[in-house]
Amino acid sequence: MKLTRLCVTFKLSVILALMLSALVACNKTDTGSTATAASAGNAVSFVDTQEGKPLVIDVALFDTPAAREFLVTGKNPYIGNEEAVTQGHKIFGMYSCTQCHGPEAKGQVGPGLVGPTFKYPKNATNKGMFETIWHGTNGGMGAKGKGLMDPTDTSNGITPDEVLKVIAWIRTHGDITGNE
Ligand code: HEC
Repeated sequence: MKLTRLCVTFKLSVILALMLSALVACNKTDTGSTATAASAGNAVSFVDTQEGKPLVIDVALFDTPAAREFLVTGKNPYIGNEEAVTQGHKIFGMYSCTQCHGPEAKGQVGPGLVGPTFKYPKNATNKGMFETIWHGTNGGMGAKGKGLMDPTDTSNGITPDEVLKVIAWIRTHGDITGNE
């Protein structure tokens, strides 16, 4: 009697183990699709700068190799990339960052952004600064992320790739890269 039960338990665990390994195998073969790759390899969980609450950003918006890499590593691949930095400078002007933070991001109405110290210490990291630009702060800095910046037009706002380029440009004015 006891032996039968043991046998059943053993069989069940074998079946379970087989099912699990099948599932893992599925995931492995599936990584070709963007969504699966991003969710399976997504090591970064974003939090907002206001309250540190979980911040959900549609993975489909991470639509360039650099943006996808950032989603996995939390590091900004554009740091030190001259072309990206030039584009980041343009985006900084296009989205009026210049008006509040000054032409060299050293401060105007808004604070300087070059560090090494920040009002929100997390901005010393590129993941932290990404979250701040994407979702804004409590004191006068609105969300700039695509879909959040303009409630009347959700196609408006900065894409993740553009945010990374803006950050790469900002970092050229300070002593930290944010990828430390
Ligand atoms: C309307 C003015 C305004 C605009 C436009 C603006 N900001 Fe800000 N920003 C502020 C203010 C004010 C703060 C300080 C917020 C606070 O104290 O909570 C701030 C804070 C920040 C911080 C955090 C600084 C710290 O010390 O922690 C970052 C990073 C930042 N802004 C980046 C940007 C970028 C990039 C853009 C353009 C996409 C931008 N801002 C556009 C006003 C602005």
